[in-house]
Amino acid sequence: MAASTSLHPMPVASLPRHVAIVMDGNGRWAQKRWLPRVAGHKQGVEALRGVVRACVERGVPVLSVFAFSSENWSRPAEEVSGLMDLLVMALSREVPSLEKSGVRLHFPGDRSGLSPRVVQGLEAAARDTAHNDTLILNVCFNYGGRWDVVQAARRLAQQGIEITEETLSGATALAHVGDPDLLIRTGGELRISNFLLWQAAYSELVFTDCLWPDFDAAELDLALSEFARRERRFGQTSEQRAGGDTESAEAGQRHA
Ligand code: IPE
Ligand code: IPE
Ligand code: MG
Repeated sequence: MAASTSLHPMPVASLPRHVAIVMDGNGRWAQKRWLPRVAGHKQGVEALRGVVRACVERGVPVLSVFAFSSENWSRPAEEVSGLMDLLVMALSREVPSLEKSGVRLHFPGDRSGLSPRVVQGLEAAARDTAHNDTLILNVCFNYGGRWDVVQAARRLAQQGIEITEETLSGATALAHVGDPDLLIRTGGELRISNFLLWQAAYSELVFTDCLWPDFDAAELDLALSEFARRERRFGQTSEQRAGGDTESAEAGQRHA
């Protein structure tokens, strides 16, 4: 993990309310073992199960994961169809236990372009878990940050609603949750890859070399403790934060 070692004057030791993760590195995990890439994606589902459980245990109320990007369509057809099959299979297998743990599923992303079988799978899983409230799990599928901003702006324009930061936030695909406090990317790449472009304006970023299938509760704890060491200023000075004048700056970043 690219952990910061700087000593902040005012560490904010707190649990993030919303953790977002770019789950990257499945292909390399598989290739290292001479396995097909889809085997890495399968192992990635196992890792996600563990991280969901860890979030529930630690009391993190919102988890958003990047499962398939707008750009992932350009992968080999075999991998794309493998990912679609895996999603449908994972949902039918995992929903009963997610249900029991109080996890509510949402699938932010562009439904157009997804097959009816996939859309039905997403909608059934969202419906079957709609009454849960322990953890909101956003599985961002066929999601792109640019798509999200454009669809939100288009919707507001169609309804004749003035575009402001607040109305646009309220029209994004993640309007049901606040902005992510912590954005983790596994797999060693130092980029956002079109994930939550709008919502991550003030997220704390943590990058780790750990490949997603190897990411477990201990790795999550490393990221959570890195987050706890950060001083979030939201444009203010350290002195203002220390003086307790934090409300207005944070309100501007958290519309949900
Ligand atoms: C992330 O793992 C999963 C998806 C993008 C669907 P990758 O498949 O990108 O794994 P690497 O980056 O090739 O190792
Ligand atoms: C980002 O990973 C998308 C997901 C994890 C779903 P990619 O592997 O697609 O990102 P790039 O291509 O390395 O930027
Ligand atoms: Mg990748």
